[in-house]
Amino acid sequence: MPPRVARTLPALRRTVMSWRAAGERVALVPTMGALHAGHLALVRTARRRAAHSVVSIFVNPAQFAPHEDFASYPRSFDADLAALAELAVDLVWAPPVTAMYPAGFATRIVPAGPATVGLEDKFRPHFFAGVTTVVAKLLIQCAPDVALFGEKDYQQLKVVTRLARDLDLPVRIIGVPTVRERDGLAMSSRNSYLSASERAAAPALYRVLKECAGKLAGGALPARVLDEGGAEIERAGFTLDYLEARHAETLEPIASPADGPVRLLVAARIGKTRLIDNIAV
Ligand code: PAJ
Repeated sequence: MPPRVARTLPALRRTVMSWRAAGERVALVPTMGALHAGHLALVRTARRRAAHSVVSIFVNPAQFAPHEDFASYPRSFDADLAALAELAVDLVWAPPVTAMYPAGFATRIVPAGPATVGLEDKFRPHFFAGVTTVVAKLLIQCAPDVALFGEKDYQQLKVVTRLARDLDLPVRIIGVPTVRERDGLAMSSRNSYLSASERAAAPALYRVLKECAGKLAGGALPARVLDEGGAEIERAGFTLDYLEARHAETLEPIASPADGPVRLLVAARIGKTRLIDNIAV
């Protein structure tokens, strides 16, 4: 059975509040649609964690800069619904932009901490304010007991965890490991932008991350390992935005791997596509 689709806040609230009144747990999986196996892993975890699962599908204009790909971002609502039907999702929350940001909308969350450590925030300065504003709204609208986010967007996971804590939102944020293609490329809706030759080059990101993690675990000097790794990514055809070793919780720079736990994070551009990935050391 296809999931029910709510397009207005009262319709969403009616359904969620009836579950909550019955004492049944609710899980939320926020997405921008164009669902792939990575998203579906979040949905499967949601199904295990709560009696009812809600998937939001909303391409959030507030997290795209004017020069970014909001207009061309892949949209595949019917296929998304079919995939969610197979996983027995109860409800899809798919508000129009005017329901999320009605005329006169004037409030924005400005995250700091993990949102201002010089990783994604340095290259997409508008991004985390857009994400936290919409995620705060989604968490308030859907009132879930748990919400699932992918480690694929590791900085986002940390920013959202901080957001929920700082605003006392009564929700548990749960991270889900990255789902990859067979050749290691992290699944992403934006992988559909890659040409055949770019797609062939793309697994270099994960390969280099693994090589660097192995060298760091073996005691090699971080600056050298990351320099070599960055060069290898560029040789594969990418322009590197960053390849960094950070503290896995705060995302602050670390002087030595002994100050860890350490997370390696990378962002790089190939053709018109920007890809990100990360792994634990
Ligand atoms: P979107 O890119 O659609 O991703 C939705 C969720 O799926 C995010 O939590 C993301 O980390 C997770 N995800 C994406 N690819 C994954 C993969 N290969 N393995 C595991 N999880 C993966 O991230 C967003 O949307 C938006 O910023 C959002 C949080 C919905 C706010 O608009």
